[in-house]
Amino acid sequence: MARAWLREILASPDTELAGVVDLVPATAEALVHRAGVQDTPTGHDLATLAAATRPDAVVDVTVPEAHLPVTLEALALGLPVLGEKPVAATLPEALRLTAASEAAGELFMVSQSRRYDRNLAAFRDRVRRLGRPGILTTEFFRAPRFGGFRETMPHPLLLDMAIHPFDTARWILDAEAVSVRCEAYNPSWSWYRGDAAATAVFEMTDGIRYVYNGSWCSGGLETSWNGAWRLSGELGSAAWDGENPPEAEFHDAGGAPPAKGEAAQEARGASNPQGVAGALAEFVHALRTGVTPTGEVHGNVLSLAMVMAAVASAQTDRRVHIELLLEEARTEALTAAAGPEAARLRAWPSASEALAVTPKGLHRAG
Ligand SMILES: NC(=O)c1ccc[n+]([C@@H]2O[C@H](COP(=O)([O-])OP(=O)(O)OC[C@H]3O[C@@H](n4cnc5c(N)ncnc54)[C@H](O)[C@@H]3O)[C@@H](O)[C@H]2O)c1
Repeated sequence: MARAWLREILASPDTELAGVVDLVPATAEALVHRAGVQDTPTGHDLATLAAATRPDAVVDVTVPEAHLPVTLEALALGLPVLGEKPVAATLPEALRLTAASEAAGELFMVSQSRRYDRNLAAFRDRVRRLGRPGILTTEFFRAPRFGGFRETMPHPLLLDMAIHPFDTARWILDAEAVSVRCEAYNPSWSWYRGDAAATAVFEMTDGIRYVYNGSWCSGGLETSWNGAWRLSGELGSAAWDGENPPEAEFHDAGGAPPAKGEAAQEARGASNPQGVAGALAEFVHALRTGVTPTGEVHGNVLSLAMVMAAVASAQTDRRVHIELLLEEARTEALTAAAGPEAARLRAWPSASEALAVTPKGLHRAG
């Protein structure tokens, strides 16, 4: 994934590559060599390279287990961070990073690159025209042969993939998950050791239901990587295959009038940077203006909370309430946190209330 980030950082007129750090120095050297910028400083220690190159920000593309130490170190150096998803490997670690960002007064944004998709944006616009949303569904059926850790980890589909549609569902609905009931299972022919299939029903705010039905060992008639989406609303339905422009149909033949300026808005959206480039552009814009980006850590933790709640429900065969899960995670986070980070965690009225609002003035414009 670091190769994709290097490509976009080098291509963007708004960013310069200051240096590349990897635990394995040869990996950092190979990355800059492959990108054709072999004069770029490399190293295996963030603080040392930061002191030598004085960067404005850190892009963290390490493995999920390293998101906590790398982001904590960058924030302590006074550097804002743009991190790959998931925000952290566990929910307590994600809350520690949220508190650390508050304590440092530096932006920590998580890149959910699948949000930056012009057809998804068009689907979200269609949904807005269908009155009150009631049911949102995602069907995800593919059969990738990854080899490696995904074939032996527990819950590969929920832990490694489902964060994308769960985060997308929050964005489409402008709603948060309240609770979930999830079953995870492994079809008899599955080549994964962990459960490669899952069905989760989320209760979202305003009583909306979000239903995710997915499998990573279902060959034939495969859905797109984004999955196939359908929204049933008060005035009609909208559908998106995850790749092409979406469609919508209203109950009554007349339908709702086109939203004012919709065509012009979609035309503007079509020229927005997509995927990783979109996340990078939003991060730069946030640093320059102080505007809170969509992936700011407080809100983004709620996407990871959906994943962890689904896993907990599958493991216990019970409905799991997000608010309670977050509070348990805060208690656990406090056993490991210290100093200003722990003080922030303690000062929150509750974990879910702290995440629902992004503190104003969290980061400086500059
Ligand atoms: N958005 C997407 O579609 C998408 C796709 C793939 C991966 N990802 C995410 O990108 C991240 C990286 O995934 P990947 O597949 O590139 O992993 P990878 O294992 O290929 O690369 C991770 C690199 O991080 C280095 N590293 C590990 N710990 C480190 C530390 N403490 N300090 C410095 N370097 C360290 C490793 O040496 C390795 O070179 C993960 O969070 C993953 O979930 C996102």
